[in-house]
Amino acid sequence: MTENGNVFSLGDKHPQIADDVFIAPGAQVMGDVTIGKGSSIWFNCVLRGDVNTIEVGEGTNIQDGTVVHVSRRTHPTVIGSNVLIGHMAMVHGCILKDWSFVGLGSIVMDGCVVEEDGMLAAGAMLTPGKVIGKGELWGGRPAKLMRTLTEEQITSNRTASPHYAQLAQVYRSELKVD
Ligand SMILES: CC(C)(COP(=O)(O)OP(=O)(O)OC[C@H]1O[C@@H](n2cnc3c(N)ncnc32)[C@H](O)[C@@H]1OP(=O)(O)O)[C@@H](O)C(=O)NCCC(=O)NCCS
Repeated sequence: MTENGNVFSLGDKHPQIADDVFIAPGAQVMGDVTIGKGSSIWFNCVLRGDVNTIEVGEGTNIQDGTVVHVSRRTHPTVIGSNVLIGHMAMVHGCILKDWSFVGLGSIVMDGCVVEEDGMLAAGAMLTPGKVIGKGELWGGRPAKLMRTLTEEQITSNRTASPHYAQLAQVYRSELKVD
């Protein structure tokens, strides 16, 4: 258990969390979950590594109210470094590569892959096994290719995760119970 009491072992499955990770109060992380340096898990997220594994790389942010889960035997969830996952997303049994962007309120289902700099628009549902190519923007329910992002949009998307990583360190040092 952490000082927030929100990191749990499940039998012999112990979360492995780098020292400077910010896990906000109300977030819950359990079982076979690995979280790399500088990542942040915001308020009321659930990362449930029970029947398969969850990996989160470095400098990644998983924003408030997001649920990350897995499928038994078939689909672990692998989230790379500097990934942005917006508020209230549902990320299930999929692979999100470095610098990918999952819009707020969107759903990523089993077997999906979001390649580097790939983006899923807010409110989208990426159905099982779909692959968002490098630098592509997909949106809608079910999600379809909307367009390819410009270099400027990719550069702009890439500013968000470092910003979140900084904000997380502010929260680590300044957040206090009133
Ligand atoms: C998709 C997105 C990148 C906007 O792309 P865009 O190409 O600039 O879109 P525009 O605002 O110019 O709108 C173009 C069309 O796409 C539609 N559109 C915009 N966002 C959409 C979305 N999320 N899903 C489906 N359609 C969308 C617009 O309604 C518009 O349709 P129209 O031509 O029929 O009027 C943006 O809406 C988005 O989803 N950003 C993610 C924000 C987020 O989740 N942040 C994380 C929290 S920090």
